[in-house]
Amino acid sequence: MSTHTTSIRAVLKVVLSVGAFYAFLKIAFLPFPLPFSLTFMYMSLAVIGALVYMTLFLDIAESIISPLFVFLGGGVEGNVAKGARMVVLVAMPVLIWLFVYSKMNKEPEVPLSQRVIHPAPPGDFMSLHNPYRVEEKERFAEYVEEGRQVYYKNCVFCHGDFLDGNGIFASRMNPPPANFQDPGTIAMLQESFLFWRVSTGGPGLPKESTPWSSAMPQWETMLTEEERWKVILFLYDYTGHSPRTWE
Ligand code: HEC
Repeated sequence: MSTHTTSIRAVLKVVLSVGAFYAFLKIAFLPFPLPFSLTFMYMSLAVIGALVYMTLFLDIAESIISPLFVFLGGGVEGNVAKGARMVVLVAMPVLIWLFVYSKMNKEPEVPLSQRVIHPAPPGDFMSLHNPYRVEEKERFAEYVEEGRQVYYKNCVFCHGDFLDGNGIFASRMNPPPANFQDPGTIAMLQESFLFWRVSTGGPGLPKESTPWSSAMPQWETMLTEEERWKVILFLYDYTGHSPRTWE
């Protein structure tokens, strides 16, 4: 066999194995589609491996590489060759620069979905009613007063003196504490919803409310059920809003 055919076969072998390796990474590499950075890394290693393999056949390697050296080293005479050489020498770094630049120069991606501020509560909360929302005026006023105590002992630091979300810790929070005066909060919510949010707090929020972590505490670990219902009564009474009902 002549050196010529051997070298062609070696090159083919190398090209085919690198191609097969690429196909393997793209199609058969489970369980994930490989991220670009890893594909790039593995492919670079494969190409380097192939080049090392080729140098085993030094004469072959030389027959492939030496024309390149002759070309780049100025061994080919003439203005056309010179021009081509300059183009290659300039194009290589520019291409690499463009490649790296296009990879690095990306706007940070905004999370796909907006945070859901009022997600659906778990089913077992939905049917609850505030047992302290009673008809009788005096008893009702008593319950509201007890709720007021609960509020100013526990909630005021974040939700504020005037229930407007301006507590002394509020400025440090993202998302900020709810502003109960705002018609977009408790005025459009059911008491059962509030009971769920007060009871389970930030930790009780479902996945669609991430990625922002809420500082709202899980009050079921600190307040009795009674206290939680009564503070809700107070929130509505103080702001003058009515809870949403479906009737
Ligand atoms: C450490 C700060 C902090 C304290 C104390 C706190 N909260 Fe919150 N609360 C928040 C933050 C922050 C949010 C907004 C993020 C969220 O919805 O979880 C919130 C949200 C809420 C919501 C949901 C409003 C809506 O529109 O969905 C309710 C209801 C609520 N708080 C009631 C209370 C009650 C009642 C207390 C007192 C027993 C209290 N909070 C104490 C930080 C606090």
